[in-house]
Amino acid sequence: FQPKLLAGRRVLITAGPTSEKIDPVRVITNRSSGKMGYAIARAAREAGAEVILVSGPTALAAPYGVRRIDVESAVDMHAAVMAEAGRSDVFISVAAVADWRVANASDSKLKKRADGRPPSLEFEPNPDILAEVAALPSGPWCVGFAAETENLEEHAQAKRVRKGVPLLVGNLAQRAMNADDTELVLFDETGHHAMPPADKIIAARRLVEQIARRLPVRPSP
Ligand code: C5P
Repeated sequence: FQPKLLAGRRVLITAGPTSEKIDPVRVITNRSSGKMGYAIARAAREAGAEVILVSGPTALAAPYGVRRIDVESAVDMHAAVMAEAGRSDVFISVAAVADWRVANASDSKLKKRADGRPPSLEFEPNPDILAEVAALPSGPWCVGFAAETENLEEHAQAKRVRKGVPLLVGNLAQRAMNADDTELVLFDETGHHAMPPADKIIAARRLVEQIARRLPVRPSP
């Protein structure tokens, strides 16, 4: 009898874009489909974990057996993650979180002005959810993602160190965004390891195996 790789583990995952309000009918978002995060949630569940998926707006259905918490903005995502992080063994931050939110968002719909001048938006930084969870004193084992458009190697290893996470998964944004397949590169303290191109669900299963292999063994009760 082979126990499942993540049996008894609680895995918290973020996925999808965030949606930042401009006014009641307009938002700023990005082109993340959520496919990678949802595939990882499914793979972690298949590996026996209890999975909580904090998801920005996507067109996807929650994978079987996964508890999904729906959020819109980065601030909402931050609150949902911080409420679950302390009880989780692993945090996998796949969401494409907006770096900034609109500081002067309006409670009523912005109107066209008689003089034709467009409104000006002001921005303020969103919380860095991954860096905050990684800094928790006895927080979960953290995995970050980095979608870069160039110089993946250099940027991803620097990002791993800056975020303070043991594992960072890199991919080329132009290759992975919205696609059904992907090519992941794992960055850890020993260097980088390229994984073969694969359908996102296959890539997710391989990634879950790599995560399970690296997790610290749990102290016996
Ligand atoms: O460099 P960047 O901040 O985009 O790093 C990407 C990683 O950080 C991803 O794992 C993403 O989910 C996470 N992130 C976050 N909160 C932010 C920005 C990024 O958790 N505000």
